[in-house]
Amino acid sequence: MNKHLKPESRNQGQTSSPDKSISLSKGHDPLESNTDLLNMLSLTVEQSPISIVITDLEGSIEFVNPKFSEITGYTLEEAIGKNPRILKSEKTLPAVHKELWATIKNGGIWEGELINRKKNGDFFTESAKIAPFKNKHGQITHYLAFKEDITSRKQVEEELQRLNLSLLARIDEETGQRMKQERLMANQARLVAMGEMIGAIAHQWRQPLATLAMIVQRMHAVGCRHVLTGEELEEFKNNAMRQIKYMSETIEEFSGFYSKDKRAEQFSPIKCINDAVRLFETQFTSNNIIVTIHAHDNLDLLAPGFPNEFKQVILNLLGNARDAILESRIIRGNHEQGRIEIDIFINEERKLIIDIGDNGCGIPDSIVNRIFDPYFTTKEESGGTGIGLYMSRMIMLESLGGFLKLQKAENGAVFRIKLPIGELP
Ligand SMILES: Nc1ncnc2c1ncn2[C@@H]1O[C@H](COP(=O)(O)OP(=O)(O)OP(=O)(O)O)[C@@H](O)[C@H]1O
Ligand SMILES: [Mg+2]
Repeated sequence: MNKHLKPESRNQGQTSSPDKSISLSKGHDPLESNTDLLNMLSLTVEQSPISIVITDLEGSIEFVNPKFSEITGYTLEEAIGKNPRILKSEKTLPAVHKELWATIKNGGIWEGELINRKKNGDFFTESAKIAPFKNKHGQITHYLAFKEDITSRKQVEEELQRLNLSLLARIDEETGQRMKQERLMANQARLVAMGEMIGAIAHQWRQPLATLAMIVQRMHAVGCRHVLTGEELEEFKNNAMRQIKYMSETIEEFSGFYSKDKRAEQFSPIKCINDAVRLFETQFTSNNIIVTIHAHDNLDLLAPGFPNEFKQVILNLLGNARDAILESRIIRGNHEQGRIEIDIFINEERKLIIDIGDNGCGIPDSIVNRIFDPYFTTKEESGGTGIGLYMSRMIMLESLGGFLKLQKAENGAVFRIKLPIGELP
């Protein structure tokens, strides 16, 4: 084939169909003859934005259009007679070329992407369609390649992918950091609650420890006067053992309080509230605080979830109520009876509502919107961490599917818990 497509010469030998006239579009003269058509086709190939390569059956290049030269840097003269492997780069796997040749030799059309090398050594990516060219007898005489340079599109795609990956990595990193922070806060909150428990146990032990000390002193005083009889010894021992038994029961009762719940279970919210109140009992009594539980419905019911986390919430709210009552005594010289009222009922949505109210110092307007923020505290001096309410709200929302909110802030405070009841999901 001539290095330039010559419509006139290509026309020779072609079957002409003189009456065939093709109109390009309105306003253009119809093409007069096959010569016009071939001229048109020739120009199309010359001006094509797609690079076109024609090879013979051995793969020897017979024709390339100007777009090919523009992309690869090989002129028509340089390309003719060469094999398209002048463009081949190690970035395209040999298997791809193998498949390409197998397909077109079998009369099929191969479609795919090739990473090739220009004359100047630069890589470029082409989207290629390579097809066998058949003569009018159906014999393959040439191969035709139509190729589009997609290097910049690929670069944009790769850049997008890179950005995507780095975005994902950043999201991962930030999620990791947030989870670390949340774990840290959860641990801190557990420590705070643990501190409450140890404080409560210390209060419960105060009385029996004092009694134990008295028993030992009396035993010593009696022993100084005379040799202790078997009966006296037995009595001292029994008295001492009663106190020790009480102390060990306290430990026993509350030791399970903070073991982490492993899986969701059906639990009795009322029992949890009673457990938490009992833990604080002696502390409240010694601080002149009365806790009253009003159960307005038959509350022999179960809730799905994590009982120890729920106890942690109640303990937090009871601790806050106690602090608020003590605070109001200090600031306002208010020495009225401290009261914590716990109202429990089922609302119209069949959810369990628990209102925990106190007659403490209340919450001023200026901080009402901040009390659930992590690390917000007005108890810096006494070592408050300010994560009690934050964690309690998280537990209610995420572990128990309910909520915790402030219901009333004046003349004491009321916090409301909503808890779904019923079967495990
Ligand atoms: N019942 C309440 N009455 C008045 N103020 C309250 C009450 N409960 C909470 N607050 C206010 O909300 C703040 C945040 O409470 P939160 O339980 O999150 O932290 P904290 O009690 O200060 O510290 P921590 O729980 O670590 O001991 C408290 O410092 C207090 O100012
Ligand atoms: Mg608190």
